[in-house]
Amino acid sequence: MTNRQILLAARPKGFPQDSDFQLVENPVPEPGDGQFLVQAEVLSVDPYMRGRMNDMASYAQPVQIGEVMVGESVGRVIQSRNAKFPEGTYVSGMFGWQEFAISNGESIRKIDPDVAPISTALHVLGMPGLTAYFGLFEVCQAKPGDTVVVTGAAGAVGSVVGQLAKINDCQAVGVAGSDDKINYITNDLGYDGGFNYKTTDDYYKAFKQLCPDGVDAFYDNVGGPISDAVFPLLNVGARVAICGQISQYNATEKPQGPRLLWHLIVKRATIRGFLVFDFISQYREALEKLTTWYQQGRLNCPERVTEGIENAPRAFMELLQGANTGKQLVKICPE
Ligand SMILES: NC(=O)c1ccc[n+]([C@@H]2O[C@H](COP(=O)([O-])OP(=O)(O)OC[C@H]3O[C@@H](n4cnc5c(N)ncnc54)[C@H](OP(=O)(O)O)[C@@H]3O)[C@@H](O)[C@H]2O)c1
Repeated sequence: MTNRQILLAARPKGFPQDSDFQLVENPVPEPGDGQFLVQAEVLSVDPYMRGRMNDMASYAQPVQIGEVMVGESVGRVIQSRNAKFPEGTYVSGMFGWQEFAISNGESIRKIDPDVAPISTALHVLGMPGLTAYFGLFEVCQAKPGDTVVVTGAAGAVGSVVGQLAKINDCQAVGVAGSDDKINYITNDLGYDGGFNYKTTDDYYKAFKQLCPDGVDAFYDNVGGPISDAVFPLLNVGARVAICGQISQYNATEKPQGPRLLWHLIVKRATIRGFLVFDFISQYREALEKLTTWYQQGRLNCPERVTEGIENAPRAFMELLQGANTGKQLVKICPE
């Protein structure tokens, strides 16, 4: 058996391209003492990976040229020399963009396929779901009756934020990049309203129509002009969670925008950037709640699945262009 891997071949300038990635084949490694071999089944591609391709100080180390691209996947233990992870165990971990990986069990989560399909460990019952949960309840401090605005509303995080807002009896207003996505979030996910930013000229006017009582909580995944339009509508005491700024991840020049901080003074509003890892001590409790809501059918996340590790770069670039509704995944099918 060979292990097909995707390496970082070059650092992108602006939007990534095929030549920034390289597909290589290597022998499948043998687990040593205390280790086990995982055969990956589903890989998650995520916006944060764009940042890891840059040679830039951040909250995590960049991927080096020639290294396997960073990423979380779910797979099955197929060979084990670690009694805690016997053969047949499903696990998720940062195994990278490859078909097989060795682990010693550190930072590995066991997945029970009887609780939910294993892929949910990469969205609603995994990192994006936890990000949605902590961003909404801890950072935005969403309360029943609040009007919550969510940008990137049809993506992995945004689709969960809207559903959690509805579970919490909030009004949820979302922004996304196509009419189909807006139909999806309003008809299927329970969002009360939303607009397609690609066909809307005046974002402020659109938000004002959808949020006649102003905005109490703003969950921002994208930044840029869409987010700028929310600030004048914040209510007194509003909370703003800066989860992501995807509109700027491929920028080649420093983005400039209007100066909006005055609104925070007038509205005595709070703005806070956060990383999901800030809440690691509360993961267990949050996952229990997310799992219950999932099992009750109150929480879901659509999946867009691309087949084959060789297509992971394409899946990643399509994610950055908004091809996905819900979670973008790569199904790994070894040759
Ligand atoms: N703070 C944390 O710990 C944390 C954790 C996870 C994710 N995040 C952040 O949360 C955000 C969402 O992540 P995700 O995994 O759920 O990804 P996602 O929303 O599933 O996928 C990214 C989406 O971004 C949208 N997009 C791309 N370019 C855009 C632009 N210029 N303006 C507006 N929207 C744009 C696209 O949808 P459209 O069709 O709507 O354009 C695309 O589908 C990202 O910013 C990510 O970095 C943060």
